Amino acid sequence: MVAIYITLLQVFILSSIYIKMTSEDQDEKEKHSNWLNAHYDPVAGFYTFSTCITFADLNGDGDHKLVIADLGTGLYNMTIKVLKGTSIIQENTLLDLPTGVTSVYMDLAEPRTPGVVVASGSGLFVYKSMRPYYKYNLPLLPVLPEEAVLWDQANNENLDPLTLAEALDGLKKSHPTSSFTARTSHFLQIENDADARQFVDDHKHKPLKRETVITCVTTIKKSMAEDDAISCIVVGTEHKQVYIIDSEAFTPLQDYEIASVPVIVNVSGLFDVDFRMFAACRDGCVYVLKKDSLQSRVCIELDSSIVGMERIHKHLIFALADKTFSCYTTRGKQIWNLQLPADVLCTAVMDHRAKGFKAVLVGLDNSEVRVYREKNLVDIIKLNDRPQALCFGRYGREDSTLVAVLASGALQVMILKRTAEYADHSSHKGPPMSQKMKLNIPKKTQLFVDQTVRERENGTKMFQNFQHDLQLMRLSVAQTYLKGLQSSMTPLSDDPSMPLKLSATVRGIGPVFQMLLTIENTAAISLNDPKLATGLIVLFKYSDTIYSIKPLVLELPALAPEISYKFAVRIHCIASDRPAQDTITALIVKRGTKKPLVTANISMPVSEGVIVV
Ligand SMILES: *[C@@H]1O[C@H](CO)[C@@H](O)[C@H](O)[C@H]1NC(C)=O
Ligand SMILES: *[C@@H]1O[C@H](CO)[C@@H](O)[C@H](O)[C@H]1NC(C)=O
Ligand SMILES: *[C@@H]1O[C@H](CO)[C@@H](O)[C@H](O)[C@H]1NC(C)=O
Ligand SMILES: *[C@@H]1O[C@H](CO)[C@@H](O)[C@H](O)[C@H]1NC(C)=O
Repeated sequence: MVAIYITLLQVFILSSIYIKMTSEDQDEKEKHSNWLNAHYDPVAGFYTFSTCITFADLNGDGDHKLVIADLGTGLYNMTIKVLKGTSIIQENTLLDLPTGVTSVYMDLAEPRTPGVVVASGSGLFVYKSMRPYYKYNLPLLPVLPEEAVLWDQANNENLDPLTLAEALDGLKKSHPTSSFTARTSHFLQIENDADARQFVDDHKHKPLKRETVITCVTTIKKSMAEDDAISCIVVGTEHKQVYIIDSEAFTPLQDYEIASVPVIVNVSGLFDVDFRMFAACRDGCVYVLKKDSLQSRVCIELDSSIVGMERIHKHLIFALADKTFSCYTTRGKQIWNLQLPADVLCTAVMDHRAKGFKAVLVGLDNSEVRVYREKNLVDIIKLNDRPQALCFGRYGREDSTLVAVLASGALQVMILKRTAEYADHSSHKGPPMSQKMKLNIPKKTQLFVDQTVRERENGTKMFQNFQHDLQLMRLSVAQTYLKGLQSSMTPLSDDPSMPLKLSATVRGIGPVFQMLLTIENTAAISLNDPKLATGLIVLFKYSDTIYSIKPLVLELPALAPEISYKFAVRIHCIASDRPAQDTITALIVKRGTKKPLVTANISMPVSEGVIVV
């Protein structure tokens, strides 16, 4: 009996010590962290992305509000919300899904209050003092003449719905999907004859319009660089255009055509003086647009899809879908490149004006936010869940606030402590250590002297020989490259529920190659069903005495239709003693099924042996 009491007592004492320790742990953690937890609302229920969050001084009183364009359920209840402190003070319904929100000063009225611009569908919805103020629709695109004729005939009842559908389907073979109107796409998805007839009847008296969809929105200062100077609105569209729109008169000032669909646009400069726009596109390329030329130029080609692009002074920093984090000059030269430990979900920039530095915040799939100053990791913030959207700036009267909307819908607000020091470790002063070491230079040998004499006498001939060999090598490289290009195939999936296309190109001369897999979900886009291909993995079948492949298994993200995704694989030819060549088979399989969806044989080029120096 006594023994039992003693053990119980011990348990009690131990557990109270334990409780004390954990709370001290918490304090300790808080003390070492650079951030104060200001607010956490686990049931806020937000569904939004970084492009749909902004801070704005809506009343012109220095008290900055948080503006969130909420996607609701993804189909219903889209709203724009304004938060002050921890509560929502205003809420307006949106008619369509928002793609971006930005605040813009539109006039010179005092006190200086910005309007809020929400991009949604093909329109810009402008709010002033959070009241609906103006709706601007982007210019309509030209309708295909053949398509217009067909609809005309159907409206005059010279064409029954079935023939109309056939004719439109026929037209679709010779024109890309994006050149048709939304009405045609909706019509072709109707399967039932009665519904089709109803659809034609319903639309009889409405004009046939081809609208575009806005993919991103940002601003450019008009003629002055002050924080509250008048800005123009810049939008990118699904039809590969970039528009600059005057925010006073709402007229397009300039429009550009580019080679792919822009998803993030960043601008530097002033519209009236000179500017440069960097448009990160869905094909993994970044295009530069300039004031005085309507031509776009590719400036950077990346190996994977772009998740985030931030500009810090003259550098562009990218977080890609393949977990790389890299920095380029605006002329397209890579400066550094890092591998992140988990998938990137969102990025934001931390512009700390008081301390005069800018850092990039990267939200990762493991619930961390990493803070990078240049390529140095200066802080890791642990959130309560995966971050879906991040925004850093002035909130309320607090200058350095980080707002994170988590995947669970929670809202987490943190404040950077004034004592936080983010040292820039790369600013290492003085010459590198190795410069101080004395080199052990050998004495001049007879062989060296002979070579020098030969070079002096027969220099021209030696140079010509060298040039000849170099040309031969270039030819051989070009031939191998061509062979590599030709040997890539584009096998297709025969499964109608998951149509996929895989192609591969091999880069390099060996023993290390880079294989670039391009995977496309070729399902037709439909309105109600996103047709995402999920749960796919790529495996490789190869001879392990000849090659080693990294990574062995590629887990694919959800693949949306009509976008090509690129994935890079590193292949090392380990049979170094002889020139080796073999075929590698890439298989796309779905989790839980036995039969692969796509198999592709990729014949590798001959590898150069390892050169032993
Ligand atoms: C939309 O919001 C309203 C009120 O907030 C709610 O009653 C309704 O159920 C919501 N609709 C959906 C589809 O969630
Ligand atoms: C460009 O990006 C930087 C940081 O990524 C940001 O501070 C700036 O506001 C952006 N400019 C525009 C016009 O979007
Ligand atoms: C230079 O070339 C000539 C003819 O090819 C040869 O005879 C001569 O030995 C060479 N000189 C040296 C220093 O190798
Ligand atoms: C790929 O190669 C294997 C043998 O290496 C062969 O059995 C298979 O039929 C080939 N597949 C294709 C799609 O060519």
